[in-house]
Amino acid sequence: MAQLIYVCEADLKEGELRGRKVEGQWILIVKHQGGHYGLDAACAHSGYPLFKGGTVDSEGAVTCPLHYSKFDCRTGAVVSKPRICDDQIVFKVEVKEGKVYWIKNQ
Ligand code: FES
Repeated sequence: MAQLIYVCEADLKEGELRGRKVEGQWILIVKHQGGHYGLDAACAHSGYPLFKGGTVDSEGAVTCPLHYSKFDCRTGAVVSKPRICDDQIVFKVEVKEGKVYWIKNQ
């Protein structure tokens, strides 16, 4: 059964990244083309917090500022070459009444 867990207000600007710690898990919320997406906030390469200087481009690629790995914000897939790490973990999120929720499966 899924549980909705509040992450943050859905007031991000287009292209904004926001990190929040929820139930012991740092989640990165990304706003891209009007949608909100959730990823593990710690880079899959060596754990750098992506909300500290990370960016998202017009294609939806989140770039880690430390070694420049790029991840698709919708799927978490690595889109940069050479590939230096695994895909980023994705968290399913939903916007409801102006708030972003993590849809956590139990
Ligand atoms: S820590 Fe993100 S690419 Fe190295």
